[in-house]
Amino acid sequence: MNGGKNGMDEFRFIDRSNSNAEKYTLRKKLFHTEEVMPMWVADMDIATPECVLEALKERLNHPIFGYEIMPDSAYAAQIAWMREHHSFEIKREWLSYSPSVVASIGCAIRALSEEGDEVIVMDPVYPPFYSMVKENNRHLILHPLKPDVEGKYHFDLEQLRTQITSKTKLLLFCSPHNPIGRVWSREELTLLGRFCLEHGIRIISDEIHCDIVYKPHTHIPMASLSLELSENTVTLIGPGKTFNMAGFSISTVCIASDTLQRAYEEERQRVHFGDGAALSHVAFEAAYTYGGPWHRNVMDHLSRNVRLIEEWCRKNPVIRFRPPEATYLAWLDCRELGLGDRELREFFVHKAGLGLSPGLSFGKEGSGFMRLNFAVPTVVLEDALEKLSGALRG
Ligand SMILES: Cc1ncc(COP(=O)(O)O)c(C=O)c1O
Repeated sequence: MNGGKNGMDEFRFIDRSNSNAEKYTLRKKLFHTEEVMPMWVADMDIATPECVLEALKERLNHPIFGYEIMPDSAYAAQIAWMREHHSFEIKREWLSYSPSVVASIGCAIRALSEEGDEVIVMDPVYPPFYSMVKENNRHLILHPLKPDVEGKYHFDLEQLRTQITSKTKLLLFCSPHNPIGRVWSREELTLLGRFCLEHGIRIISDEIHCDIVYKPHTHIPMASLSLELSENTVTLIGPGKTFNMAGFSISTVCIASDTLQRAYEEERQRVHFGDGAALSHVAFEAAYTYGGPWHRNVMDHLSRNVRLIEEWCRKNPVIRFRPPEATYLAWLDCRELGLGDRELREFFVHKAGLGLSPGLSFGKEGSGFMRLNFAVPTVVLEDALEKLSGALRG
């Protein structure tokens, strides 16, 4: 099986405008014009690995697509990947299928807390973190993440200590963090993990971005830090970001604790997640088994794109950029432009012709920022930066 074609061909431009891609079809609704280069929703404008396509073609030789269960061999492939890439030892019985990480967040919130309980969410963060808490009738404890002079964000446990109450039951944690691109260090994770254990707070750790990490940073799963943390954490992982296959609706939930697992499983039965679809199982297993070379190539490609943005920002210092430690999302600090959030968004859409995610959509702390998805062919990124230069000149 071909793990990944080598060379730049993998990262050529592919027209997605007529492929029902959300990034393109929702342009009009979101930006009120189709004349924008869409650089918002977090998927890649890069072909899914060849090994996945080959495995799918082979499966199509069998003409029946009835109910299927997720095979042990698929779980084994993910377990091997997590061991090799993150030194995370997962047992098969800890894992279950989920159609989406966001759905798992909702399920875990309901399983591990009661209506009216409080859930800690760090601001700014991926928007469904807020909506999942609110829609499940829990209260948000918003902990602001603050950038230092270098633009590196931190949480503050002294402040968090003053924010929690006896009703605080959960931390909804993003690791690595979207949109600020942090890979939390061992020390940060240990302190945060200890804080949660001390206060009886369970952790839901969304680690969907764990494989898009730039050297020299390494992702450390919260649950791998200690036995106690493994027993206190629900970890959400999947191939969606790693291999650009969000459209397969497949991810897993990893729970080591019997108590947490029982609670989660009851809720999971209530919402009937089922066991996934034939083609998704095949894609999942092939990606984790054979996708290593493709993943290495894509990381090289993304690193090149980071350097391009860095270079551009050096020439245009009015927009500040700290290269992300993880994710293919650039968190652009546009505060020096002196625009309000609405004007900033209009500037990007109407002056630059770029459809980015406004920082404010990630929470109050995102005000004055824009998030640019750079998982695109380099020519596309060059074009986007050129458009932005033109808008700034204007
Ligand atoms: C932190 C985070 N969690 C979850 C998701 C979405 O996961 P899924 O499509 O499996 O619901 C995203 C997508 O951007 C994300 O950034």
